[in-house]
Amino acid sequence: MSQAAAKIQTATPLLSVNNIEVVYDEVIQVLRGVTLDVPEGEVVTLLGPNGAGKSTTLKAISGLLKSEYGEVTKGDITFMGERIDKKNGEDVVRSGLIQVMEGRRIIEDMTSIENLKLGAYTRNDAQINQDLEMVFNYFPRLKERTGLAGYLSGGEQQMLAIGRALMARPKMICLDEPSMGLSPLLVKEVFGIIKKINQDQGITMLLVEQNANYAIRAADYGYIMESGKIVLDGTQEQLLSNEDVKEFYLGGGNEERKSFKNLKSYKRRKRWL
Ligand SMILES: Nc1ncnc2c1ncn2[C@@H]1O[C@H](COP(=O)(O)OP(=O)(O)OP(=O)(O)O)[C@@H](O)[C@H]1O
Ligand SMILES: [Mg+2]
Repeated sequence: MSQAAAKIQTATPLLSVNNIEVVYDEVIQVLRGVTLDVPEGEVVTLLGPNGAGKSTTLKAISGLLKSEYGEVTKGDITFMGERIDKKNGEDVVRSGLIQVMEGRRIIEDMTSIENLKLGAYTRNDAQINQDLEMVFNYFPRLKERTGLAGYLSGGEQQMLAIGRALMARPKMICLDEPSMGLSPLLVKEVFGIIKKINQDQGITMLLVEQNANYAIRAADYGYIMESGKIVLDGTQEQLLSNEDVKEFYLGGGNEERKSFKNLKSYKRRKRWL
């Protein structure tokens, strides 16, 4: 039995992706049976090389495939016990799960505050100003930048995108490569804030990253994906001490990254799947 399967028996995960396949344009199959769990209150990371299908997995979860002519053709996704794989993006947000998109996608000709307020569009309560303060607490520099969001630095735009997601008061946030384009110092800061938000607010996180070093250290559990399939999963400790992860993802200095599929240890692992 896989460790993911063992986890299900102890507690029902908040998010459960069960053996999904995703096809674009009716013919291009990108995900080939992806299964992963995200337990409530935890940070789970999904790692893998370019083109593995990480963003596709997140889009399938957050109901954002349709606009790209993609579809979940097999398997199912449940969030808080409810099927979400046929829902559109807005309904998924209303159910409490929001995605911070790759490349940030903030609205450049609006101010930071306008962008943040936009994040609260699915809500109709009176706490919005209070939540703006909560966001500025995590990202004080956003408060100082009162001009148009298009003039914010890359790091500040990333912070704004995370802040905007927080404004929806989600139970869970999916983050697609929050470290992309940031300096090492900012990467550290942004990961620190992500972890802090998880701890203070109890918001569950699914974190897609290329920066395995930071992502594994911020996460309770991780999955590694290649060519549309999960090839390895484990706790933070298991991943950090795994020889293959060390060699291929934690910067063993090897420029040419081989595939897990060709590794002896990967084949060994198949026995305990
Ligand atoms: N809208 C689309 N239409 C057709 N094919 C797509 C579409 N989006 C992604 N793909 C293909 O699906 C595969 C997985 O892409 P995806 O963006 O999910 O990978 P990724 O793991 O997020 O990669 P990266 O690390 O580069 O962001 C790639 O081969 C890509 O070309
Ligand atoms: Mg991607």
